[in-house]
Amino acid sequence: MIRATLNFPKGFLWGTATAAHQVEGDNTNNDWWAWEQQPGRIVQGHRSGKACDWWGGRWREDLDRAAEGGQNTHRLSIEWSRVEPSPAVWDESALEAYREMIRGALDRGLMPMVTLHHFTNPLWIAEQGGWLNAEVVPFFERYVRKVVSALQDLVGLWVTINEPNVFSTLGYTLGGWPPGEKSVGKTMGVARNMILAHAAAYRAIHEIQPGSLVGLAHHYRGFRPANPRSPLDRWTARTRSRLVNDLFPSAFADGVFRPLLGRERIPQAAATQDFFGLNYYTVERIAFDPRLPGQLFGRGFYPENADLSPTGFLANEPEGMWGALTWANRFGLPIYITENGVEDAGDRMRPRYLAMHLRQLWRAVNFNWPVRGYYYWSLIDNFEWERGWTQPFGLWEVNPATQERRKRPSADLYAEICRANALSSETVARYAPEALDQVFPAKSVSPGQA
Ligand code: GAL
Repeated sequence: MIRATLNFPKGFLWGTATAAHQVEGDNTNNDWWAWEQQPGRIVQGHRSGKACDWWGGRWREDLDRAAEGGQNTHRLSIEWSRVEPSPAVWDESALEAYREMIRGALDRGLMPMVTLHHFTNPLWIAEQGGWLNAEVVPFFERYVRKVVSALQDLVGLWVTINEPNVFSTLGYTLGGWPPGEKSVGKTMGVARNMILAHAAAYRAIHEIQPGSLVGLAHHYRGFRPANPRSPLDRWTARTRSRLVNDLFPSAFADGVFRPLLGRERIPQAAATQDFFGLNYYTVERIAFDPRLPGQLFGRGFYPENADLSPTGFLANEPEGMWGALTWANRFGLPIYITENGVEDAGDRMRPRYLAMHLRQLWRAVNFNWPVRGYYYWSLIDNFEWERGWTQPFGLWEVNPATQERRKRPSADLYAEICRANALSSETVARYAPEALDQVFPAKSVSPGQA
């Protein structure tokens, strides 16, 4: 076999991502912990519990695994409720524990990317109305100032908020996440406060640490009209994409907030990203359905022939990664893939998912688009929110009852890629032979298909 290689630029960042509540354990002082105690909220009544026991110190062995796997960066998050357990009361020992964790990452050759808000809120924030209360903006800024002042000598790459679209939609439109609201109006109010909070945090971080890079991790979801010839399908898919995908990044580009109806100028939000963090997982088909006004008259589904993940949560749609990158590149900023991955306990789909998505990333890199790095979600299986422990995304398997780890083949695949800074046909042939033709097409293809 002729060996071909997809090379990535020198200095490309290869890592994995985690989030505090999903791996630390014992985050008893936040709204998710309280939510988990309510019957019916989490699949099979699962709880985060000790999670992956990072707060108990197991981050050390897991970051060893990341470093031994050839990774050179790690994305992690800070738990607000640990740092500020009650209003303006700071737990310096929690901050010291994060300093140790981040120093531990640096010592292992893992450049830290640090997220300041990854879905969870201190109980005291939730009790004061959470993200519906405009006061959350100064509260968030105060917390960000404290964390950045404490960690600035160790961290230069900040994600203020993870997936504001997912946070606001699941918590305030669909109601499956805390606080369980089902109101589009409230969702838009939360979105507005998140835009203001990011803008305030962006300025605060730069004031403290002028040379730092600050952005968000945006969740991009592909929405394709079920029937491309149907104007109604096209309309509902486009409207959904506008709200889910465009709302936040467009506000951070030009300072205009465009909710469903009307628009509002928020000038302080304009030009408040130094980089574009992109989380991409999948593409859905959208069909017009007059019975679903709360979902913008659109029904989302995966087509029958989709390459579905074992729990049916995701379809393997690598072309969607290309769509996501094309979309993100319009904002004219350096791009980091801050999350991408699949839940797959048996590790049968993950190798091809990884190889096929990295091919799309390589295409962008070779168009000289400013893609700086890639973070696979996730290093280890962890607590997947309302889906509990039923969705193992890890390169490493975790048994939460015993805290045992077991390496999946994808951990070795990813290590080969990270070490070589490249994906070779030989590697794909060994780990995902079924995807070889798609990652390295043998026949000539038209540019549109490449
Ligand atoms: C993202 C989220 C992560 C993780 C992942 C997989 O939306 O940021 O925390 O849960 O999905 O479900």
